[in-house]
Amino acid sequence: MERLKNKVAVITGGANGIGKATALKFIKEGAQVAIWDITKEKGEEAAKELGSDTKFYQVDTTSFEQVEKAAQQTYQDFGKIDILINNAGITQDATLAKMTIEQWQKVLDVNLNGVFFCTKAISPFMVEQACGRIVNASSVVGVYGNFGQTNYVATKAGVIGMTKTWAKELGRKGITVNAIAPGFIATEMVKSIPEKVINMLEGKTPLGRLGQPEEIANAYAFLASDEASFISGTTLNVDGAVTI
Ligand SMILES: NC(=O)c1ccc[n+]([C@@H]2O[C@H](COP(=O)([O-])OP(=O)(O)OC[C@H]3O[C@@H](n4cnc5c(N)ncnc54)[C@H](O)[C@@H]3O)[C@@H](O)[C@H]2O)c1
Repeated sequence: MERLKNKVAVITGGANGIGKATALKFIKEGAQVAIWDITKEKGEEAAKELGSDTKFYQVDTTSFEQVEKAAQQTYQDFGKIDILINNAGITQDATLAKMTIEQWQKVLDVNLNGVFFCTKAISPFMVEQACGRIVNASSVVGVYGNFGQTNYVATKAGVIGMTKTWAKELGRKGITVNAIAPGFIATEMVKSIPEKVINMLEGKTPLGRLGQPEEIANAYAFLASDEASFISGTTLNVDGAVTI
């Protein structure tokens, strides 16, 4: 089944983890993929692995200048941009008492400014062609809060707000905007969590395990496909029921 045949997708943070699994899924579904990532080596490696329908662009999504340049270059290379997956994100955890201003600011820069910059730079191409799909990475902690993650939770809650706002602003232009809220997924991001906390999280998850990056990639692919044509402004939990 090639649900994304002839579509061009930009996937931020596509060099690693969920983003890389998403790039692979999109290629299998027939899309052409532009991986935007700050990490050159891993990005080039991923693009090589995924083959000729993938191209890597080194982009720091916290720089609007770099984002605008990459958007122009991607449009020039592929001739259009149909899908934007705002997936790049980071954590820098600490309790409120211990969190530094730098930690607060850095996470806001990547997880909030980056999402705003990419959408601002790419949505005009979608408006011009009167169709497009934008999917943003939120998190279950953006809805429920989490100990030691003031900065990250603020950004992931903010992403849900931006998703709803853009769904309203861009709907009439033929663009759907949705978010996914993953639970705890086995990537580098989660590997930094101590083993006893991972065991506790697995215990709290009705499905009894962490999620796999491919399971988030499947949700991104669905929301980016024509099958999701009347879904907009929603946040889809992909979390093994950890939040119920
Ligand atoms: N792993 C989880 O359990 C989990 C849970 C909920 C939400 N999420 C969200 O899913 C998304 C992907 O997470 P992941 O676990 O795959 O993370 P990851 O750390 O494995 O990969 C993140 C990617 O983003 C890139 N990146 C970081 N800063 C960037 C920048 N400024 N510009 C461009 N690229 C940048 C990194 O180089 C990396 O390739 C993130 O937004 C994350 O917050 C993850």
